[in-house]
Amino acid sequence: ATATDHQAEDATISQGSVATNHTGYTGAGFVDYANVSGSYVQFTVDAASAGSSSLAFRYANGTTTDRPMDISVNGTVVASNVSFPATGGWDTWATKTVNVSLNAGTDTVRATAVTANGGPNLDKLTA
Ligand code: GCU
Ligand code: CA
Repeated sequence: ATATDHQAEDATISQGSVATNHTGYTGAGFVDYANVSGSYVQFTVDAASAGSSSLAFRYANGTTTDRPMDISVNGTVVASNVSFPATGGWDTWATKTVNVSLNAGTDTVRATAVTANGGPNLDKLTA
């Protein structure tokens, strides 16, 4: 399937803000998750057909502590406690890929911080 970039700064953000205070992001910025459990970014993605699809999250984690997130599709957690480990700095971005099952048509994909540290900085979802 053809992958499309979905910028985090254009997604629905709960307990986070759009930021540009680090380099290397794509689009107009990235999402800085609030440092709380439950902060999330929710994307709307379009799947041409039902079935397995890869979700590639581009993120930065400038700390030395993992920032795990739960990934849910259409309201159901399909990958829990997914690791978003240190990237070496806030200007250094990495990609975490998760394989999920999507419905044909419109799907919602939410990435929710699991710990009180919040999520990593999130640049985009390619799906
Ligand atoms: C720093 C950094 C932010 C990051 C935050 C965090 O403030 O500049 O981009 O989101 O740390 O720890 O979450
Ligand atoms: Ca943050």
